[in-house]
Amino acid sequence: MYEKCEEVLISRESLNERVAQLGEQITKDYEGKELIVIGVLRGSFIFLADLVRAIKMPLSLDFMIAKSYVGTETTGEVRILKDVDVKIAGKHVLIVEDIVDSGFTLSKLVGHFEGRNAASVKICTALNKPSRRVVKDLKVDYVGFDVPDAFVVGYGLDFNDMMRNFPEIRIYKP
Ligand code: IMP
Ligand code: MG
Repeated sequence: MYEKCEEVLISRESLNERVAQLGEQITKDYEGKELIVIGVLRGSFIFLADLVRAIKMPLSLDFMIAKSYVGTETTGEVRILKDVDVKIAGKHVLIVEDIVDSGFTLSKLVGHFEGRNAASVKICTALNKPSRRVVKDLKVDYVGFDVPDAFVVGYGLDFNDMMRNFPEIRIYKP
């Protein structure tokens, strides 16, 4: 399996450097606000762990699980399998994802929190695949790296639930 992912796209050093910058930016942007960071399981877990340690202000943390079923090229159905347990109303929500692809998952989650009267809802993603976007008006507020239209693994991202544990981002070639 490992011979299919020999090509490193983003090194551990580049990830570290970029996460530090994102943390600094988020710290500035949310100064004086009540911030709740919400990780989308499972892919975001490593990025989330790095990111929250780069944010230098009080915050609370929770997780959710969302599954997307893409029926055709243009329709995606997203189901929330685990919702957050904390109160959302009046709080500033930052959703943390591993990668934004079609955008179906995040557009569903943003709508979900806006419907619960969050003070604001923003998105932070480790990776972004703009060439694959279907939900064109999705605003992705913080992006680690734009990546080409390739299947990537590592740093939390999986292929069939494997290879999340690579410390860097690699390209998976089937
Ligand atoms: P979206 O709803 O199409 O934006 O789906 C995003 C989800 O698809 C992510 O949370 C990932 O779980 C998965 N995904 C999309 N592209 C990749 C990839 O290149 N590698 C691993 N997972 C991916
Ligand atoms: Mg995911």
